[in-house]
Amino acid sequence: MTVRHFLTLLDLDNDELTRVLDHASALRRERDQGIHRDTLHNRSLGMIFEKSSTRTRVSFEAGMTQLGGGSIFLSPRDTQLGRGEPVEDSARVISRMVDAVMIRTFSHETLERFATFSRTPVINALTDDFHPCQLLADMQTWREHRGSIQGAKVVWVGDGNNMCNSYINAALQFDFELVVACPEGYEPNSALVAANQDRVRIVNDPGEAVRDANLVVTDVWASMGQEEEQQKRIRDFSRYQVSPELMAHADRDALFMHCLPAHRGEEISEHMLEHRSSVVWDEAENRLHAQKALLEGLILGFDRLD
Ligand code: CP
Ligand code: NVA
Repeated sequence: MTVRHFLTLLDLDNDELTRVLDHASALRRERDQGIHRDTLHNRSLGMIFEKSSTRTRVSFEAGMTQLGGGSIFLSPRDTQLGRGEPVEDSARVISRMVDAVMIRTFSHETLERFATFSRTPVINALTDDFHPCQLLADMQTWREHRGSIQGAKVVWVGDGNNMCNSYINAALQFDFELVVACPEGYEPNSALVAANQDRVRIVNDPGEAVRDANLVVTDVWASMGQEEEQQKRIRDFSRYQVSPELMAHADRDALFMHCLPAHRGEEISEHMLEHRSSVVWDEAENRLHAQKALLEGLILGFDRLD
């Protein structure tokens, strides 16, 4: 059987994505009723983190425990990966011992090299280019609040970063219109934009972009690894803060999402997370449910998700 990976949202077809999101919502309802499934009993997840994390680590680790399995936290500080053991060798060894591996790293190419040599499914837990697990949670959250996202107007405000690139993939997979409002020089991946011209539009004016939006999304102005650019970015992005005033241009039922962590006073105004449009806490919680569904799909088969 070919090993399935989840390196970007495009690795699952439409039917598999729907199954994952349906199953994730079912797991959420069951958890709320105190019901747990042991579907990954005796299974292990290797978790390689080369960048910091709160949500991703806690959700994968808690998720594996809740499904009856376990997880192993691996940081370069205390594995041979940090002492120069090649990614290819690490992939061959680790994947002979665990049932799936999630990786948070810098270069997307490192993740692809690991996947090429892995015997077990590899999950992208964030690279400089993509963050597909967050999109599963975002799409689950939208569906739970509003139903189908097909045909909706989604506006990304801010940096054309890993999250924004994943929103472009989501626009294709879930069939919505995406408007990206960013300063010149901070556009998302140009090849992705070119390949999705019918769904993705780049503009500079956030007010114009947000008009009649159904979903407004933002993220930090300086991602992990860009700390030295922080001050320049604060200047370049000063017009791009999401606030109640900006949300006033959106549809009155619009939702607001942010993958978190957030910087109040930068990409969002002080109380934006508490605004009536904000669903950020559901969004964060859904990382748990969506990834449990993803793990079951990758390890047991997507046709086994009910
Ligand atoms: N949204 C997200 O991936 O958060 P962490 O960096 O805390 O994992
Ligand atoms: N774009 C952010 C997302 C953090 C979850 C980063 O890469 O740091």
